[in-house]
Amino acid sequence: MTLENILLDCKKQLNGALNHKKHPFRYFTLASISENDTPNLRTVVLREFNANKFQLSIFTDARSKKVEELKLNQNGKFLFYDSSRLIQLILNVKMIKIIDLKNDFKALPDPSKKDYTSVLKPGTKIKSPDEVNYDYSNDYFRKIIFQTINLEYLKLKRPNHIRAFFSAEDKWKGTYLVP
Ligand SMILES: Cc1cc2nc3c(=O)[nH]c(=O)nc-3n(C[C@H](O)[C@H](O)[C@H](O)COP(=O)(O)O)c2cc1C
Repeated sequence: MTLENILLDCKKQLNGALNHKKHPFRYFTLASISENDTPNLRTVVLREFNANKFQLSIFTDARSKKVEELKLNQNGKFLFYDSSRLIQLILNVKMIKIIDLKNDFKALPDPSKKDYTSVLKPGTKIKSPDEVNYDYSNDYFRKIIFQTINLEYLKLKRPNHIRAFFSAEDKWKGTYLVP
């Protein structure tokens, strides 16, 4: 597989994740760095992908820890894994924008509104999961946009695994790496 085709396939799969609910890249792991330099991980849903700019977006609650952390340190990492094709993608990203999605919030179905309107902020200790109250008039629905700085692709296959690295710095030309 040529480097050009590998990058094209990455973009195709990320686009596919937006349109297909069962696509393995729909859910991915986002790592950010806490104030005391420890990594934090969580699963998120891919909401937007701009293949030309290589920007990706997620939705979240403005009060979540990830927002707090990304405001202090914009560096993050994304991990995508396709268990049937045995492909791993690791993106080094920078948080570039947090957008208040006021009008988009109104269009959300009620169950989704719950994800961004708890009265107490996410992570607050409670006695029972049924104890959470919601206030739809006060939402914390945000979109975070990330810029990809570079990415590493790994496909496990016999006889030769394929590992490649692409970066904005070298205009996404890419290079193969020893797996
Ligand atoms: C399947 C799945 C999908 C999730 N999608 C999102 C998401 O798109 N955005 C989000 O903020 N949290 C999402 N979460 C919850 C996060 O993993 C995390 O628990 C939450 O955002 C709090 O993270 P933080 O305290 O590190 O900010 C998802 C969790 C699961 C299990």
